[in-house]
Amino acid sequence: EWIDVPFTKHKIFTCNNFYLPEFLAKSLEKFKQFQVRQDDVWIVSFPKSGTTWVQELVYLIENECDFKKATQDSIENRSPFFDYPSPGLKHIENIKTKRIIKTHLPHSFLPDEIEKKAKLIYIVRNPKDVTVSYFHFTNLSTQAQFTGNFYDFTKLFIEGKVPYGPWWNHVDDYVTKKDVHVIYYEDLHTKPFEVIKKLSKYLGKDLSDDKIKSIIEWCSFDKMKNNPAVNYEWYKDLGLYKKNGHFFRKGTVGDWLNYFAVDDSQKIDHIVENKLKTKLDFNYGIS
Ligand code: A3P
Repeated sequence: EWIDVPFTKHKIFTCNNFYLPEFLAKSLEKFKQFQVRQDDVWIVSFPKSGTTWVQELVYLIENECDFKKATQDSIENRSPFFDYPSPGLKHIENIKTKRIIKTHLPHSFLPDEIEKKAKLIYIVRNPKDVTVSYFHFTNLSTQAQFTGNFYDFTKLFIEGKVPYGPWWNHVDDYVTKKDVHVIYYEDLHTKPFEVIKKLSKYLGKDLSDDKIKSIIEWCSFDKMKNNPAVNYEWYKDLGLYKKNGHFFRKGTVGDWLNYFAVDDSQKIDHIVENKLKTKLDFNYGIS
């Protein structure tokens, strides 16, 4: 069913109670049938939850901290976006080496084979900072035609009517799955060593403390912001991003405090308490 959400150049449609952009609608069957490999690593998230950060971490863990190799190709080539028409499923099928695949798809749309085969990492970020980050992203992307202000955007987020929304169903469907390795964006800020150690263990890699420290350093916000292999500045030349903004925007916990109206903040609290079925303890950056 197609619905009229004033959001993107792509029409939005609803399926399984999720709101998905048009380019996904055409591929849902193909997604289901996609052949998963035993050694695939899938990095999954609701948009703006820290996906790129984790993609770079996983790439380095998988490639024995080969920093040079990590600069030789863009993050979207090293860790392709499954849902997006470019580079496309054919390209991902043809990758000969171990695949690190990014997707924002809700769990019910993943390939049928996913759970019995691949490793699955899910990133969660507190929903207030997600809202702020997503709002800015709609201004950065030329694919969005959202003209409203932050309050208009927040209203849509609260109604669940943003691409890949509702956020609470997206999160619930992943964090309740037994074999999914969950990472909190905020934990990457407060205890990166522990998070990366656990993540490496999940990936079957035993990294030395020094290597973990060098990964933390490499993946700091400032380093990544200035790293042309990950900072998506090339999207400006491709016309996908506007010139006056950056994918690496702020990268903090608690920026929502600069944006949210009190009653909207309470509405999100209500969502976390009542609509989100799993009890999750979010770090909102208030000490
Ligand atoms: P902000 O808009 O709050 O700055 P995704 O990769 O899922 O699209 O998420 C993007 C968000 O993660 C952005 O949030 C971005 O700045 C933040 N981010 C990306 N890399 C980061 C890093 N190394 N450290 C902290 N935040 C990072």
